[in-house]
Amino acid sequence: MRKVILTGDRPTGKLHIGHYVGSLRERVRLQNSGEYDDIFIMIADAQALTDNADNPEKVRQNIIEVALDYLSCGIDPKKVHIFIQSEIQELCELTFYYMNLVTVSRLTRNPTVKSEIKMREFESSIPVGFMCYPISQAADITLFKADTVPVGEDQLPMLEQAREIVRSFGNTYSDDVLVEPKALLPSNKTCLRLPGTDGKAKMSKSLGNCIYLSDSAKDVKTKVMSMYTDPDHIRVEDPGKVEGNTVFTYLDAFCKDEHFEMFWPDYKNLQEVKDHYMRGGLGDVKVKKFLIKVLEDELAPIRAEREKWEQDIPAVYDVLRQGTEYAREVGRKTMAEVKAAMKINYFEDTELIKQQAEKYKNK
Ligand code: TRP
Repeated sequence: MRKVILTGDRPTGKLHIGHYVGSLRERVRLQNSGEYDDIFIMIADAQALTDNADNPEKVRQNIIEVALDYLSCGIDPKKVHIFIQSEIQELCELTFYYMNLVTVSRLTRNPTVKSEIKMREFESSIPVGFMCYPISQAADITLFKADTVPVGEDQLPMLEQAREIVRSFGNTYSDDVLVEPKALLPSNKTCLRLPGTDGKAKMSKSLGNCIYLSDSAKDVKTKVMSMYTDPDHIRVEDPGKVEGNTVFTYLDAFCKDEHFEMFWPDYKNLQEVKDHYMRGGLGDVKVKKFLIKVLEDELAPIRAEREKWEQDIPAVYDVLRQGTEYAREVGRKTMAEVKAAMKINYFEDTELIKQQAEKYKNK
C-alpha cells in the first residue's frame, strides 16, 4: 500500500510555537524520512470559512502567512505538495456524499466541535457548514488516500469520524476505494498541547498568549520574561514547582542536552536544573534567560528562512499553484473511483447503457 500523508491548518492566523512542536516539526521530520510516497499539506481555507463566513479577507491574508510559516520551518516544496483546499472541487463533492453516511446526532457528539461551539459563543446559531466540518475533513484526508495524518491531540475526534466514514463507505459501496487513516501524534507528551505564555491550557490568538514563529527576537524575549511560572516561588531561595510551570513546560518541549554545553554549562541536562529549582536557590530569571536562548536556537533559522521567502512572494504563490495542480490530479482520480463505487458514473459506465437498452427492448 502507498504511504501517504495529509495534514493541514486553517488560515486564521500566523502559526505559533504550539503548532510547531505539535505538528510542524514532526512534518519536517517525516518529509525527510523518505518513507512516504506522497505528502500533502493543505491550507484549509474552506474550513476556515465555516466560522469566518463574514471575513474572507482574513482568510485570504492568512493563506500567505501560513504558507510562509510552512516554508520557513523547512517544509520543502520539492518533497511536499502544499495546496489550497477551496481550489479542489472534488473535496466539496466528496463531502456532499459523505453527509449521507453520518447522522446529525453523531456530529453533535464530537468533543472538539462541542468545545469550539462554546468558545465561539455560537449558542444556538451554529452555521450548518461549521457543524459539518468534520465530514469535510474526512473528505480532505480520504480524497488523497492518506493513511497517516500528523496532527495535534485536539484532532483525534476528526480522525475517528473519518475512519467511521471510510468503514461505512466500505460497507455500503465498496471497500476497495478508500483508505482508513490513522493519526500520528508527537511522541513528546509536552508537545501535544503547549500552554500559552500565561499558563492557560491553550495557546490562542484571542487569548493573546502566543509566541509566533514570525515573532522578532525582541518579542520572544519580552514574552518569555513576562511568562507565568510558579506563583509561590517568590524569593530565589524558595523551593519551586516545575509542574504547571510554563517555563519548564517550554523547556520540556524545546530543550536538548547539547543546549547545556552551548548556553549553560553549570548543568548537564534539564533534570539537574529542575532538581535545583525544586530544592530552591535558582531564580526564575536565570531559567528564563536560558529558555530564550533555547528558543532562539530553533527560531532564528526559521526567521531567516522566512525573510528570504518574504522577498519573493510570487515564488510562494507558485509553490501553492503547483501543489494545487498536483492535488487536483489525485483528487480527480479518487473521485472517479468513488463515483464508480457508488454507481453514479452514468456516462462512464458503458454497461449501464447496454443494460438499460436491453431492458426496454425486451419489455
Ligand atoms: N481542523 C484542522 C485544524 O483546525 C485543519 C484541517 C483541515 C486538517 N483539514 C484537515 C488537519 C485534514 C488534518 C487533516 O487545525
